[in-house]
Amino acid sequence: MPAATLATALGFLLLAGGSAGDEAREAAAVRALVARLLGPERAAEFVVSVERALAAESGLDTYRLSGGGGGTPVRVCGSSGVAAAAGLHRYLRDFCGCHVAWSGSQLHLPRPLPAVPEELTEATPHRYRYYQNVCTQSYSFVWWDWARWEQEIDWMALNGINLALAWSGQEAIWQQVYLGLGLTQSEVDEYFTGPAFLAWGRMGNLHTWGGPLPASWHRKQLYLQHRILERMRSFGMTAVLPAFAGHVPKAITRVFPQVNVTQLGSWGHFNCSYSCPFLLAPGDPLFPIIGSLFLRELTREFGSDHVYGADTFNEMQPPSSEPSYLAAATAAVFEAMTAVDPEAVWLLQGWLFQHQPQFWGPSQLKAVLRAVPRGRLLVLDLFAENEPVYSRSDSFQGQPFIWCMLHNFGGNHGLFGALGAVNQGPAAARRFPNSTMVGTGIVPEGIGQNEVVYALMAELGWRKDPVQDLEAWVTDWARRRYGASQPDAEAAWRLLLQSVYNCSGDTCRGHNHSPLVRRPSLQMNTTTWYNRSDVFKAWHLLLTAAPTLATSPTFRYDLLDITRQALQELVSVYYEKARTAYLAKELVPLLRAGGILAYELLPALDKVLATDSRFLLGSWLQQARAAASSEAEAQLYEQNSRYQLTLWGPEGNILDYANKQLAGLVADYYTPRWHLFMEALAKSLAQGTPFQQHAFDKLVFQAELAFVLGSHQYPTRPQGDTVELAKRIFLKYCPQEAVASP
Ligand SMILES: *[C@@H]1O[C@H](CO)[C@@H](O)[C@H](O)[C@H]1NC(C)=O
Ligand SMILES: *[C@@H]1O[C@H](CO)[C@@H](O)[C@H](O)[C@H]1NC(C)=O
Ligand SMILES: *[C@@H]1O[C@H](CO)[C@@H](O)[C@H](O)[C@H]1NC(C)=O
Ligand SMILES: *[C@@H]1O[C@H](CO)[C@@H](O)[C@H](O)[C@H]1NC(C)=O
Ligand SMILES: *[C@@H]1O[C@H](CO)[C@@H](O)[C@H](O)[C@H]1NC(C)=O
Ligand SMILES: *[C@@H]1O[C@H](CO)[C@@H](O)[C@H](O)[C@H]1NC(C)=O
Repeated sequence: MPAATLATALGFLLLAGGSAGDEAREAAAVRALVARLLGPERAAEFVVSVERALAAESGLDTYRLSGGGGGTPVRVCGSSGVAAAAGLHRYLRDFCGCHVAWSGSQLHLPRPLPAVPEELTEATPHRYRYYQNVCTQSYSFVWWDWARWEQEIDWMALNGINLALAWSGQEAIWQQVYLGLGLTQSEVDEYFTGPAFLAWGRMGNLHTWGGPLPASWHRKQLYLQHRILERMRSFGMTAVLPAFAGHVPKAITRVFPQVNVTQLGSWGHFNCSYSCPFLLAPGDPLFPIIGSLFLRELTREFGSDHVYGADTFNEMQPPSSEPSYLAAATAAVFEAMTAVDPEAVWLLQGWLFQHQPQFWGPSQLKAVLRAVPRGRLLVLDLFAENEPVYSRSDSFQGQPFIWCMLHNFGGNHGLFGALGAVNQGPAAARRFPNSTMVGTGIVPEGIGQNEVVYALMAELGWRKDPVQDLEAWVTDWARRRYGASQPDAEAAWRLLLQSVYNCSGDTCRGHNHSPLVRRPSLQMNTTTWYNRSDVFKAWHLLLTAAPTLATSPTFRYDLLDITRQALQELVSVYYEKARTAYLAKELVPLLRAGGILAYELLPALDKVLATDSRFLLGSWLQQARAAASSEAEAQLYEQNSRYQLTLWGPEGNILDYANKQLAGLVADYYTPRWHLFMEALAKSLAQGTPFQQHAFDKLVFQAELAFVLGSHQYPTRPQGDTVELAKRIFLKYCPQEAVASP
């Protein structure tokens, strides 16, 4: 499609003009952000303004920086609040050497503020910078209070995010709708999942599991949603609200016995007590009624920015592969939106197309993508750094799409990423013939890990070309992160770039596959796409840098994270030794290797994790409990949280998917199963009986369940010194290659 046609097709998506009132409101929001970030004194050195006219030529978010030096204020002007915040971030990053990240910020501002020698104007290459996966709401945001949300929205603004989900509180609206339709309160309660599983309830994968939602939950989420929306909109962000995708509670069939529904299949190894949702037939008269009731109630409560998310067939096999059915099911969702909001644009996670490519052949894809007028379906190419769909769907049949980096499933700890592919991806998608790309997106299932990957992706949202030299880029990144240039730390990051962050192919598809965080068996695959020695060397280099950098909180976080990674590597090494010994029927070497793994490495890991509040199971569970308004709710939330980290479902349905490495979780969940495994192997050798995986799985499930149902309370305050413990572990286990000259 020629550019002009594309622009027309995407007319709906083009930058809205704003009144002078909007400009003033957005500027005020950014000024308040500057004060939160830098404190009132330093904030006074910035002059922030918002002028829509800055983007007049391109229609794309633009910022302009000037001033600074010798006491002159730094002037930050943006075409929107988000653009101004992104301009501020650029100034802090490139002129002041500062760093803003989930794990902490390094904001040592020079005095006076450095000058911007020549006025600098930068426009983003695309209409949108998108943020969030539907799952992020459950894996990362579920227990957040307003203070934490505020930080996140600031992070979003600084990274120039202008399109993001705002999905809190939707169950409160659904409850009103269903009660209004004649369902009973207990039918509604039976339908919703618990808080930690709402993402999958919203996509029709699950119901009931982990519920019911207490009334206080609804009240708190409504309150939060209002504040979230108010803040997002004050920056000029577009908040994506949810819409009806077609899934309904089973009780709808009691109230409307004639209704035409299909029960879909199960999901994620859950049985139909928790899965197999009912999908309303697109031709049923109730479809537009329920869809419109919901959206009308929702927008009456929250207002609207005209973009709505809905996922009907996310990891769900449609009842028919007939293109006519798929088109009807798609059109029904869109029509229910436009009945309430004639300007509606539908935001669709394109995950289904890449998750079930056998089902979604060319005619099925086409049926869905053409069932909505061109320009009104905005598709997230959700895992584009790994398996882009735009390239095999003619740019989603001409619908606008956003090139998204997913990177992490379940929010696992573990260092991995494909910085090279991420760096090249957006530019390649833009160059694709007749590309309909309209933005870039950051869509991890869980945040708070591998920040270097997210820093690069956020930066790419504002770059026309890939970063030329990733080695230089990562070196600068380390320097800013620690607020000092330290050659060993920088060398460590270059080693990580060429190893853990240079993954390719299927070996590092978004998960931490380490045996450490998996249920033990004799079949575990310890292959890595990188050379483990690089991790050990980087570990050694960071330890060498420790005397200089130990006062930097971000450095201490990274030292802990790489020590954690090194221990994870050592667990693989000792697992291999133990397995080799077992297969060779050598009891003593088995006991030696197994003993080190289960009785030394894992306790050492737990102890070092305990030194940082970000790696405490206690803090994790405390967040859940703090969201409750009674002890009974606190117990429900804590159990939701424990399940999500481990068994996921009642029978280990999606076992260890959202694994984390947290102090307490290592000691009381991972360690006991390695004890059991090593004991079982030793017993097998001693008694000459074969090791039976199936019997072992049953045994270990009881231990896993004991942890999940347990009520032990874990420390919420860190204990011990990260640097000291990291050093001790290194000295004890330091593999030879770590100290060999690089
Ligand atoms: C791009 O669009 C133009 C105009 O519709 C068409 O002629 C051309 O074949 C398209 N190119 C590709 C590679 O699809
Ligand atoms: C589904 O699994 C749960 C938990 O294991 C069990 O209690 C329930 O009876 C099962 N339901 C069906 C329909 O099999
Ligand atoms: C129910 O919906 C399905 C799918 O749209 C359709 O094929 C079927 O004819 C409908 N049944 C009735 C009785 O309307
Ligand atoms: C990543 O690995 C590839 C080989 O798979 C290599 O060609 C490339 O140079 C590596 N990149 C970095 C930054 O080390
Ligand atoms: C382990 O995984 C790697 C990479 O995916 C694969 O090449 C190798 O064959 C696997 N090894 C075993 C023993 O399954
Ligand atoms: C990994 O690195 C070590 C130490 O630098 C080296 O001895 C070894 O040969 C490397 N292994 C591979 C497979 O490249």
